[in-house]
Amino acid sequence: MYTLNNIKIIIADSYEQMSIDAAEIFLRQLSDKNDSIMGLATGGTPVGMYKELIKKYNEGTVCFSKMHAFNLDEYYPIKKTNDQSYDYFMKDNLFNHININFDNIDIPNGEADDPEKECDRYEQKIIEKGGIDFQLLGIGLNGHIGFNEPTEAFSSKTNCVNLQESTIKANARFFETEEQVPRKAISMGIKTIMMAKKIMLICSGANKADIIKKTIFGPITPMVPASVLQMHRDVTFVLDREAAVDIESFL
Ligand code: F6R
Repeated sequence: MYTLNNIKIIIADSYEQMSIDAAEIFLRQLSDKNDSIMGLATGGTPVGMYKELIKKYNEGTVCFSKMHAFNLDEYYPIKKTNDQSYDYFMKDNLFNHININFDNIDIPNGEADDPEKECDRYEQKIIEKGGIDFQLLGIGLNGHIGFNEPTEAFSSKTNCVNLQESTIKANARFFETEEQVPRKAISMGIKTIMMAKKIMLICSGANKADIIKKTIFGPITPMVPASVLQMHRDVTFVLDREAAVDIESFL
């Protein structure tokens, strides 16, 4: 474990090892506090970690029955039945395979009539639950966390965002065509994320090496949303070697 600019860094040899290390940290949180409020992420990166959690569950070593999950974000608008919705993703990749209580799952509602109201409801529910104990994050090529895209100012609460062209292009790989990627999303805000007691960001692949370096060493700026994590009091990055290649000389 290394520390750079207030960020604890673990470097794993491969994507598989990154997933194992991240699952171990996640499960340590649950063993310390089995009713933890866990903030979860979607996308390609956490799939391996979720597989590892399912494996541990099947081995009978962990229990998720008391945990409460709040997902970071959801496309808008999108039907829950759409296999590209984050609601569907979470059930398919994790929730259907572990003993989480389905009443303890919160994901922004991509079917809500009024997205602004949905943002307020979501933020309020997180506050009512006492805030996030442990937030899992991925990172976009442009430095976004959740769907907080680079912009002029850090967003605060859960908000409705317009996805940037680079994000639409990056996420098109999950859809049949780029046109099918929703242009908006509901996302926890930067302040919502920063209020989490602990944060773990996972990242893999050479194409993210540059943004990881900017996040850790760059100026703290809303143009690189993840750079705000330098100001968090308990943040750990679990990186595979490829994602860490640009920071290795500083370790
Ligand atoms: C997903 C999310 C996004 C992703 C990011 C990286 O809930 O909030 O910030 O973590 O876009 O996605 P992948 O892992 O697909 O590279």
